[in-house]
Amino acid sequence: MPERIHFQNVIATFNHYAQYSLSANNRRRRDIYSLSREDQDTLDKLGYKKKLDEVDTAILANADFLAKIVENPEIFGLDPDEEEDPSPSIDPHQAPELQHSHSHDHGAAAGRSHDHEHSHSSGHGHHHSQDQHHNGGHGPGRKKYKPSEFDMDKLRSTLKQFVRDWTEEGAREREMCYQPLIDALVEFYPNTQSPEDRSKLRVLVPGAGLGRLAWDVAKLGMHFNFPDSYPFLSFQKGFSCQGNEFSHYMLLSSYFILNRTESIGQHRLYPYVHSFSNVPNRQAMLREVSLPDVSPSSLPPTSNFSLVAGDFEKIYGVESDPDEPQSGQWDAILTCFFIDTAKNIVNYLRIIHKILAPGGVWINLGPLLWHFENNSTNDLSIELDLEEVKALAREIGFEISNERDIDTTYTSNSQSMLGYVYKAAFWTATKVA
Ligand SMILES: C[S@@+](CC[C@H](N)C(=O)[O-])C[C@H]1O[C@@H](n2cnc3c(N)ncnc32)[C@H](O)[C@@H]1O
Repeated sequence: MPERIHFQNVIATFNHYAQYSLSANNRRRRDIYSLSREDQDTLDKLGYKKKLDEVDTAILANADFLAKIVENPEIFGLDPDEEEDPSPSIDPHQAPELQHSHSHDHGAAAGRSHDHEHSHSSGHGHHHSQDQHHNGGHGPGRKKYKPSEFDMDKLRSTLKQFVRDWTEEGAREREMCYQPLIDALVEFYPNTQSPEDRSKLRVLVPGAGLGRLAWDVAKLGMHFNFPDSYPFLSFQKGFSCQGNEFSHYMLLSSYFILNRTESIGQHRLYPYVHSFSNVPNRQAMLREVSLPDVSPSSLPPTSNFSLVAGDFEKIYGVESDPDEPQSGQWDAILTCFFIDTAKNIVNYLRIIHKILAPGGVWINLGPLLWHFENNSTNDLSIELDLEEVKALAREIGFEISNERDIDTTYTSNSQSMLGYVYKAAFWTATKVA
């Protein structure tokens, strides 16, 4: 599907969020009316209907937030104009039925995501792993795009990704995932005499999601410290850091949070209102999170932080731009829940190796939930086990150290009655050959 059409479909998904989600909630309301009068009264006593109204209100608040993200999509240089009807008028109680299913298993799909909140299956929420799989039409006169359950699932996952990256609530998950990567980076490149030295080191974060890890790396060490040998305050700089991401859901969202958000706690979200399963109580589902937990604009003007849009293999795997050489240009690459997005892990690792400077470091944390396993789109998928991945890395020219498992969640609702914990593999790999 052409990039422009795909982009328009993603915008359409943002714009249809309220209608779609209210409709799902309205189904619950209708189901009450199919019960006997007596049972309806019993549910009423529990406040179930009132809860449905509160969910509607939360959905509308989420929709306000999402509308802000896609307010000016033209900044992406792609024309969103073909999407007619940007915000369908909504009456929560009259929301039309949309064609989608609400089963918990997302069925056979082209791939998988790490977000498992909605799955009953054996630890695998089945999703398509790229945004590119859609039923959208093409070209002039194409019909108005009707987002699918797959699209909406992407959008709901994006809301949860906001929690992981930019809220207080996500701090625990970031501590489990991002901190070990940052600690290993700093251990590999310990503070040097001059603060300038560190900012010359170039760090790449492929599959950056909403950008927090990359931002933290650029911000790193923005504190005063008191070196023993130097009695005055010294000001450490972060690394020079570039994130890379190809999902339009993520790119639109990270652009908004990084460039259009001024103050801490400026926005509020209700990320857990989309599923009524495994909910211990009303508060667990309806709780509000505010974001961001830090001011994204607090990076000093001298810091070097960027997010590059596009496919990792296409941007870093080929020397397409003579002004932006890649081979041997990166001092560190941090992959967090990324390597299993590969169709061909051999190619991912070869690229990582090639673009690292001699002696450079690749630090990894993540599971091996091969996103393209059992895909229905005839995509290639090489699915190695952990030992094989490490053996492959050694074959390619890495020396692996610092290996361990790290138990961690991924965009989980900490108050849910269901929780998945990954035994994520962690290592530091130095380019030796
Ligand atoms: C499981 S998420 C992890 C996000 C983030 N690193 C974190 O830990 O929260 C994987 C991310 O990689 C992105 N991704 C997958 N394949 C990619 C590719 N070939 N190029 C760039 N980004 C990719 C996805 O869009 C997604 O945001």
